[in-house]
Amino acid sequence: MGDKDLTGLTFLVTGSAGFIGFHVSQALLARGATVVGLDNYNDYYSPALKRDRDRELRRHPGFVSLELDLVDRGGLEALFREYRPRKICHLAAQAGVRYSLLNPFAYQEANLEGFLNLIELARRHEVERFVYASSSSVYGGLAELPFAESQRVDTPISLYAATKRANELMAHAYTHLYGLPTVGLRLFTVYGPWGRPDMAMWLFTAAMLAGQPIKVFNYGRMERDFTYIEDAVAGIVAALLTEGLAPYEIFNLGNHRAEPLTKVIRLLEEHLGVTARQELLPLQPGDVPATFADISLAQSKLGFYPRTPIEEGIPRFIAWYRRYHGLEG
Ligand SMILES: NC(=O)c1ccc[n+]([C@@H]2O[C@H](COP(=O)([O-])OP(=O)(O)OC[C@H]3O[C@@H](n4cnc5c(N)ncnc54)[C@H](O)[C@@H]3O)[C@@H](O)[C@H]2O)c1
Repeated sequence: MGDKDLTGLTFLVTGSAGFIGFHVSQALLARGATVVGLDNYNDYYSPALKRDRDRELRRHPGFVSLELDLVDRGGLEALFREYRPRKICHLAAQAGVRYSLLNPFAYQEANLEGFLNLIELARRHEVERFVYASSSSVYGGLAELPFAESQRVDTPISLYAATKRANELMAHAYTHLYGLPTVGLRLFTVYGPWGRPDMAMWLFTAAMLAGQPIKVFNYGRMERDFTYIEDAVAGIVAALLTEGLAPYEIFNLGNHRAEPLTKVIRLLEEHLGVTARQELLPLQPGDVPATFADISLAQSKLGFYPRTPIEEGIPRFIAWYRRYHGLEG
């Protein structure tokens, strides 16, 4: 794909103050695009972190920052009329498996109603491509690893997963009915600088530095396909730009390595210089013991070749974490 110049092209990135949206916006801006970034700065995790990301993006003259909720249909319509985005990267959502057990309606609003509001505007304004975040969680507890896009995914085991699968089905209907080109991306545990405070990598780091115990679910018998943020962004940008895709696409974006959680803890210990105190707990409802992505489809169609193993990604995350919190290295 190379580093195509995107000057003169306007992208809408939803969830631009979120972890992945921030990095995708940066990547598009770096290539000269205009990025309209939308976020509602909700308090699912630190709004201050979201404001800090947004402040970084605002430094770029091609960035337009809008504070808007996906359920605000009038606000979204005004946005489309004013900025006329040609491509959409829809990343705003209520994320998290465990939180969906406690706050189901947050998922209904952001992931179902919000998704519908946006895809409906996308087709009315005839956008060139609608790329949206799905999740590895749609594979639920399937036993057959690695997970491939050809597998049947009609047995979600959390409401979060059900809403992400619903997004894929809604996109299918819109592609079929209106010819709207859509690309769904099943992301696998993304981590790295400017990451998410509700995810294991950050939670473990924070607890270990504070001398507190870390919660290790399924008694440590967990495997995750950890995707470094730069690799995920390369896949997302390729999904936005690659020519010749089919009208309806779904891709896994993972690292194609199932890493034991115990190895992640060992690497954190090594790079933080702290021994973790582990509180061993059962598997949480809605959680799966293992994820592992077959990425051959994204390789062949998007040229997606992730190249960051956790041995490299974890120290980079820790270096950023220390800098961001003003801790000595
Ligand atoms: N990070 C991962 O490992 C991962 C894995 C699988 C899927 N995903 C999906 O990727 C996308 C981005 O994830 P992330 O890790 O950047 O999460 P994030 O929570 O950091 O970013 C999402 C952003 O969307 C915003 N948002 C939420 N609801 C909104 C609403 N109603 N209106 C406007 N803005 C709203 C939030 O304020 C947040 O800044 C999400 O759709 C998530 O479900 C992420």
